[in-house]
Amino acid sequence: MISQRNDARHWWRDAVIYQVYVRSFLDSTGDGIGDLAGVRAGLPYLKKLGVDGIWLSPFYPSPQHDHGYDVADYRDVDPVFGDLGEFDLLVAAARRLGIRVLLDIVPNHCSSEHPSFREALAAPPGSAARARFHFADGRGPDGSEPPNNWHAMFGGPAWSRVTEADGSPGQWYLHMFTPEQPDWNWRNPEVPAYFDQVLRFWLDRGVDGFRIDVAAGLFKHPGLPDSPDPEADARTRDSVNPLAWNQPEVHDVWRHWRAVCEEYTARDGRERLLVGEVSVPTAREHARYVRPDELHQAFFFDLLSAPWDVDAFRKVISEAIQDIAGTGSTVTWVLNNHDQVRTVTRYGEPAPEGSGLGAARARAAALLMLALPGAAYIYQGEELGLPEVVDLPDDVLTDPIFRRTGSRARIRDGCRVPLPWSGQASPFGFTQEAAGVKPWLPQPEWFAEHATDRALADTRSFWHLYRDGLQLRSSLPQLGDGTLRWLDTPPGILAFSRGDGLVCAVNFGTAPTPAPVAGEPLLTSGPCPPGVLAGSTAAWWITDGTHD
Ligand code: NOJ
Repeated sequence: MISQRNDARHWWRDAVIYQVYVRSFLDSTGDGIGDLAGVRAGLPYLKKLGVDGIWLSPFYPSPQHDHGYDVADYRDVDPVFGDLGEFDLLVAAARRLGIRVLLDIVPNHCSSEHPSFREALAAPPGSAARARFHFADGRGPDGSEPPNNWHAMFGGPAWSRVTEADGSPGQWYLHMFTPEQPDWNWRNPEVPAYFDQVLRFWLDRGVDGFRIDVAAGLFKHPGLPDSPDPEADARTRDSVNPLAWNQPEVHDVWRHWRAVCEEYTARDGRERLLVGEVSVPTAREHARYVRPDELHQAFFFDLLSAPWDVDAFRKVISEAIQDIAGTGSTVTWVLNNHDQVRTVTRYGEPAPEGSGLGAARARAAALLMLALPGAAYIYQGEELGLPEVVDLPDDVLTDPIFRRTGSRARIRDGCRVPLPWSGQASPFGFTQEAAGVKPWLPQPEWFAEHATDRALADTRSFWHLYRDGLQLRSSLPQLGDGTLRWLDTPPGILAFSRGDGLVCAVNFGTAPTPAPVAGEPLLTSGPCPPGVLAGSTAAWWITDGTHD
């Protein structure tokens, strides 16, 4: 097996990137909202944790209908988060610490406040300004029915009707998310040309790459025909409408963006990274996005969606490695992000509250993820073992999914509550608490148990587990890029070897089992008596090689 992890040109193949949800990371101005200066202040903490880079959630000027995924200006910083000067300081500080910086780019849709969309609204049907989006006449005798039957991902129809300049009811425009997020028309050459300028603007400012929002989106089926199952996206909250997502033309865009990145690499030797948010039905489809001339990475969400079950984990890991690594790329693992219920809570259900089962499983899953071949992403607070905040009152919820579906069931505010840094009471050092200013989402009292100052002081904390795992990962040649070999194990146990004698085993059951490997483990996710792998626990060993 050839490991490329020491080749600086391919740093991304096994990088561990930390997702910074800027508005909830650290507030430097005392307005209750995290900002870029707060991220800069937190860099030493991230360096200590040992990550290779950060991905910054969108900080561009935006009316914040979907927390920045509704971009009004792709080439500036929203004053709430800072300004371009502060952005430059952040990039420079990160560079000094050897932390790469990825931005979140949102090419499928913009904000209804974006100047191009405002221009389109003011322009007549059939105009060049409208052709940058998907405007169409309605159906029915008076055009009062949407142009097709698609539903938006966050509920409701995917079309909204505009009022024309003369005050008459007019055309409709397409928005696969909220009405405040009109979809760009990527079949219009002006749109890719505009995004070229956006990419270059940030690359010229020194960024190391981009996380691409909705990377299987952009193109819609020509003619925008009716869908046989129009509510499928909203029902599954996944991009499953085959007419709206994953159209073949999107691959040409990623080939072009990759070429732009290579152009910058050719100038200074620094390899840029494109990581796509790719939701497609199968690992094989997914693999098409990371072919050698397309995206470097694409989040592999099947691990995140897998239930805590040994067979489910083994199946998704095997498929990913077979199909994605088969392209020559590596798999990009992720267990948490700003759209999903946090692992501690997800894996805890339906266990009785307070059983600690969710936390034990989340710790085991972390060691498993860090032992898998490929790259990994950590979502802020994951390293603190933060559970989901499930009981936020309705009047503080900001997720458009709640507003548009009236459902609390799958809202995303609970994983976005501002981080606890120190102290016993909210705001836990997150904000300087100027008179009366509170964090933008309320932090529960029990966040005190997870504050970073406590986590750093307690060697049994999640934080130390992640830090130790990351340190071993960067010092052991067996970890990171490469392959794995499954080991024969009793039911309920998952075990594999990496390279020269590193073994990772996970006990998915709750009862202890004999350790599959003799000798003292290098690292365990929870206490294990000698020779035993405790229930809901993972461990790493270096063996004499007989397990290879
Ligand atoms: C995926 C992002 O992760 C999510 O937060 C956002 O709401 C949608 N894309 C729409 O941009």
